[in-house]
Amino acid sequence: MPDQPRRCPVTGFDHHSAEHGDDPVAAYRRQRAQAPVAWTEAHGGYWVVSDWAGMEQVATDDETFSSARHPEAGGDGLSVLIPKSPVAPHIPIEVDPPEFQGYRRILMRFAKPSAIKEVQPMVERYATAFVDSVIEAGECDLADVVELPAIVTVDWLGLDPREYPRYSSAMFAVIACHPDSDEYRHAATVDIPEIEQQVRAVIRARRAEPRDDVITGLAQAEIDGRLLSEDEVYSMAELLISGGVGTTASLIGQSLVWLAANPDERRRLIERPELLDGPALEELLRVFSPTQALARTVMSDTEIHGCPIPAGDRLLVSWASANRDPARFPDPDRVDLEREPNRHAAFGVGVHRCAGLHLARAMSRTLIGQILERMPDYEVDLDRLERYPDQGVNVGWKTIPTTFTPGPRRGPTIQELLAATAPS
Ligand code: HEM
Repeated sequence: MPDQPRRCPVTGFDHHSAEHGDDPVAAYRRQRAQAPVAWTEAHGGYWVVSDWAGMEQVATDDETFSSARHPEAGGDGLSVLIPKSPVAPHIPIEVDPPEFQGYRRILMRFAKPSAIKEVQPMVERYATAFVDSVIEAGECDLADVVELPAIVTVDWLGLDPREYPRYSSAMFAVIACHPDSDEYRHAATVDIPEIEQQVRAVIRARRAEPRDDVITGLAQAEIDGRLLSEDEVYSMAELLISGGVGTTASLIGQSLVWLAANPDERRRLIERPELLDGPALEELLRVFSPTQALARTVMSDTEIHGCPIPAGDRLLVSWASANRDPARFPDPDRVDLEREPNRHAAFGVGVHRCAGLHLARAMSRTLIGQILERMPDYEVDLDRLERYPDQGVNVGWKTIPTTFTPGPRRGPTIQELLAATAPS
């Protein structure tokens, strides 16, 4: 690679910088206005694509813009992140078509709407228990309550639900902490390898003794008459853990903070809860875009908006920024809980569009709905909010100090529920 940038326009953009983390919306707004496709020298150099048209071109052309690992383009590591992250390959997010299709079909057996409908009672049981854990106290850190997606994902997969805090903190560290932080290093070198051992043990156990869970389904799945290998099953399971645990928590947390700061809108949702089943949730997804941006590798010389992009370059495509492109969404910074049409990119666009979106929607509307119903006057101390340490890939609130009028429990707390759970 030449010493001097041979690409233009050049920008000082860095999605992992503190300045970006302070206000990602403003950073992307500047980027879209100055140059919707631009080169930055940060993290070894990459293109930033920040408008809707550019995002759509990249996300719908898998031949030119690959999601797979290419050692010549920045070494090994999770290819949809910049810089790459040192974890196991993730299937199918790092597999290009046509090989991709077989894996995706397997995944959708468990993630399609009818399958998620069967998971709904479990989602409700855990949501009730999380709210029951705090409801009598009148105060809490709402970030603890929005751990719901972690326990649901772990239980749905067939892992031990009592271990959910461990999965949750490890995934948080690798997606929302700086790679040079102690939290990140500990997760990458200790927690994730331990989780890998645990999950692999469960895969082997399910091969021997099948159960009614997703890991069993993956362990029994075949492509062209061939059983998936343990590595493949692990790669799919780890993707489901990392996709399922943090993103939905971020959406729920950001939405609840915004609703606390906008009481008229909160009242509207309390009076018309059906909005959460449709346009309101989609609008919250659009404006809060928990997964801000992911990466691709350029496979052949190409152009975006007339800008020449050489093969081998890496490229960051921002769903969050495309979601606020005024050419696509009128008055994009206004949160309109009845906005329609609203075909946003929060779940991605193209063949890799989020496989977990039905589960994400089910968990979000269930927990936001319960909190609005059971803690309708909750207030968030906006001055004591703490955001994720690194907001380059995932944005959200790490701490959400909250008070509300206490109410009655409906059943066991989450701790009581887990204490009564037999080891898996
Ligand atoms: C609000 C919550 C969520 C958001 C914003 C979100 C966002 C995304 C995005 C943007 C992609 C596209 C990746 C790409 O094109 O490179 C994606 C893919 C994926 N997500 Fe999600 N996700 C969420 C929840 C979940 C949940 C709950 C799960 C599973 C438990 C999940 C599992 C996946 C998987 C497996 C893929 C890869 C799909 C493929 O490659 O075919 N996600 N997600």
